[in-house]
Amino acid sequence: MASTSKSYDVATLRQREFPLLDECVFMNAASLGPLPRRSLAAIDDFNDRRVDLRRFGDMDIPEAHARARAAAARLIGALPEEIALGPNTQVGLNLAAGFLQHSLRQAAGRPGLRRRIVVSEGEFPANVYPWLALEAEGALVQLVPTDALGRPREEALLEALEQDDVLAFALSAVQFASGFRADLARFGRITRERDILFVVDAIQALGALPLDVAEAGIDVLSSGGQKWLCGPWGSGFAWVRGGLIPRLEPLFPGWLSFSSSLDFTRLCEYGRELLPDARRYEMATVPAQDALGMAASIELMLELGTGAIWEHIREVQRPLLQWAASRDDVVMVSDVAESRRSGILCFRPPRVDDVFATLRRAGVLAVVREGAIRLSPHFYNTPEEMRRVVELLEAALAS
Ligand SMILES: Cc1ncc(COP(=O)(O)O)c(C=O)c1O
Repeated sequence: MASTSKSYDVATLRQREFPLLDECVFMNAASLGPLPRRSLAAIDDFNDRRVDLRRFGDMDIPEAHARARAAAARLIGALPEEIALGPNTQVGLNLAAGFLQHSLRQAAGRPGLRRRIVVSEGEFPANVYPWLALEAEGALVQLVPTDALGRPREEALLEALEQDDVLAFALSAVQFASGFRADLARFGRITRERDILFVVDAIQALGALPLDVAEAGIDVLSSGGQKWLCGPWGSGFAWVRGGLIPRLEPLFPGWLSFSSSLDFTRLCEYGRELLPDARRYEMATVPAQDALGMAASIELMLELGTGAIWEHIREVQRPLLQWAASRDDVVMVSDVAESRRSGILCFRPPRVDDVFATLRRAGVLAVVREGAIRLSPHFYNTPEEMRRVVELLEAALAS
């Protein structure tokens, strides 16, 4: 493989961490990322020691969790104390929805109190159902229509946020079916100004793009580890802004959410004091081997540099963007403006299903979402692979 990026060598990365990627053209990180070898080794080592428990130490589990919280925190410019480990994106989004229960109960039957939750249409359902469930508590969920290509309309969302009764705003950093990248900082300014809880589903962004929670002005972020972070299935984390943690209690606390549970010799005292950090949001026994695997994957990305990874992804995308721009019959669903681009490229050629079938037959792993082919190349892909995809597309459309 000839391709190199400015800051890391892709051939070496593939050889060391992803040796099987040469067997296909894998462009589907937006569905499920490949597990790097080092992450598999970390998981295997942990599990091997569980087979022979003489080699398993008291600190193995807390250290695995601490390593995962530290890696996740570094990735998003946060503190480990603000990270709650979990199994996916959904649990973190439900946690955020739970934060609103108290305000909604107070607002019940009292006109004028805030009960509106603003969400964009076109969001992945994981970021819609938790808010709809709050309708039973009196919430008014406003789904703001997208544009004709299914992308959020930021001006309309901003206008919705100007209403007096907005309690929370939920948005994906990157949309799953268009790859649209939100201007989080723009929303962060207004939500902070108006004291609106700003919740971000970051699973389609983290690992592909740099994201700093302080710059973005977010309050709660949630992400599974299984896609662009190349972590194990069933790994993930939520981040809650440090200043909010003392005020925000989990709707459903776990037994390990409480300070008194730190002392396993006196568990039945049932002390009422929640832990002061984001561990209060963790749902009891969190899978340590998966947290370790996620930590190892994130550490790999941090070693390479999130900026370098994003630069590399853009370089890989270029042949497809040039090809799509050269054709009148291909609709680019993704907004390809520099500030809007993400790791996801969605486009609609004529005869989408036939064209997609041609790609699949030639060993290109991608998916169709909402009527568009979705390519999600990552830090291990090369521009050569994308040129190959373009050749296949051109041939499919010529036939
Ligand atoms: C934007 C977005 N959120 C969430 C998910 C998945 O949620 P979870 O990690 O809870 O399975 C996906 C994809 O599966 C997604 O694209």
